[in-house]
Amino acid sequence: MKRPEKSLAFTFNGVRIEAIEGQTIAAALLASEINVLRKTRLKNEPRSIFCGIGICWDCVVTVNGVTNQRSCLIEVVEGMVVSS
Ligand code: FES
Repeated sequence: MKRPEKSLAFTFNGVRIEAIEGQTIAAALLASEINVLRKTRLKNEPRSIFCGIGICWDCVVTVNGVTNQRSCLIEVVEGMVVSS
């Protein structure tokens, strides 16, 4: 019997985002149609998921105050605070 999916929620730049248990932050944001995770320092260009496997670092965000976290590698935890 398939285990029912557990719903979780977190915030991204102050906006409540729904996720499914086991989903990464990046996947949950894309599922919520948020595809700009940050902007570059010098040219202010948008960045999103590129590799999806932790290599390119394009998806870095701040998670619970810890900077430079790759959102494609971190599973959502209920109540976590994520920002660009
Ligand atoms: S998308 Fe490449 S490291 Fe996350």
